[in-house]
Amino acid sequence: PGLAVEVVDEIDSTSSELMRRAREGRAQPVLLAARRQTAGRGRMGRAWQSAQDAGEPASLTFSLGLPLLPRDWSGLSLAVGVSVAESLDPSNEVRVALKWPNDLWVEDRKVGGILIETALPQDGTAERYLVIGIGINIGAREDTGMSTAPAWIAQWRPDATAPRLLREIVPPLVAHVLLFGDRGFVPFAERFAQRDILRGREVQLSDGTTGRCAGVGWGGELLVQTPAGMKTITSAEVSVRPT
Ligand code: BTN
Repeated sequence: PGLAVEVVDEIDSTSSELMRRAREGRAQPVLLAARRQTAGRGRMGRAWQSAQDAGEPASLTFSLGLPLLPRDWSGLSLAVGVSVAESLDPSNEVRVALKWPNDLWVEDRKVGGILIETALPQDGTAERYLVIGIGINIGAREDTGMSTAPAWIAQWRPDATAPRLLREIVPPLVAHVLLFGDRGFVPFAERFAQRDILRGREVQLSDGTTGRCAGVGWGGELLVQTPAGMKTITSAEVSVRPT
């Protein structure tokens, strides 16, 4: 079936809406984009605030919902990041970088984030309803004082508008998610490595461990060389910061 596309002016959260629908048994492939979210959610229970410029939303917020049954879910958020980064920066000129597990960075600033959630379907099929929520700050003043630092996609893409970026990002994203469903993270591993912001850097994990990041493995796990040996981090609930 085709992908239904819905664009709304305002909603609490595009991801919350698709999760609600899935719980009601509406688990079709759909793209839901919103000009404004009143209760945008980030990872680990954080709020996700859209960039505002002179009262105008200057960000792209959307969620893609579709049923999927991959052999292994690990690395999905990295594959999604690769897809979005490649769409924003096809020739890899500007270095839209990726910070494990799912942030988009430009020049040491976070420009976007990915929130992945799944709902169990009502109809007893093995597939899950996957909701991929993506927020990208296109342009914002520096002084907005937001917790998520805004960065300026618009600086190097003056033609960037939310509808235009959506048209560029979504078709390859759907194809990449289906490819992930068939083949897992392997087809994305090398492409992630090219944009990996942490590889080769000293990092600190949220449990306090420090070490040198050795990149990611074939399942999307983060590899950190510590004094106690190589640590393999699979949980997306670990936060990592460069030291
Ligand atoms: C993060 O950086 O922690 C993830 C941010 C994800 C934000 C997007 S915006 C569209 C979708 N709806 C939400 O409420 N969150 C995601």
